[in-house]
Amino acid sequence: MGFDVPEPFAWDESFRVDYDTIDTEHKGLFVAIFDVAAAPSDNAKVQTLLTKVTNHFTSEEGMMTKAGYADIVAHKKLHADFIDKVKGLAAPVDDGTVKFAKSWLVNHIKTTDVKYKGKL
Ligand SMILES: [Fe+2]
Ligand SMILES: [Fe+2]
Repeated sequence: MGFDVPEPFAWDESFRVDYDTIDTEHKGLFVAIFDVAAAPSDNAKVQTLLTKVTNHFTSEEGMMTKAGYADIVAHKKLHADFIDKVKGLAAPVDDGTVKFAKSWLVNHIKTTDVKYKGKL
């Protein structure tokens, strides 16, 4: 997948989608993945990440629904596919999974989330 993964892993302005709620949640997801990467054996951090991901998808999908966003079905499918991959996750998290999560978040925001800019 294409976009550069920031190192250290943190949200920056290039991820802005111009909705404060979503930008704040995205920042939280970067922090949650950073925390898992820093302490892959800490199951509390892993579960915090999963909760934040689930809550964010619910919130983003709610905004898309409310706005009658045309591409919501395909977008929700991408969220569901990610959840399927991480839902059983527990510490210790291996390096490949951390890399996958970082890359998925970066590329999902820059490829898929940006498409709703100005439409919600
Ligand atoms: Fe999304
Ligand atoms: Fe998002």
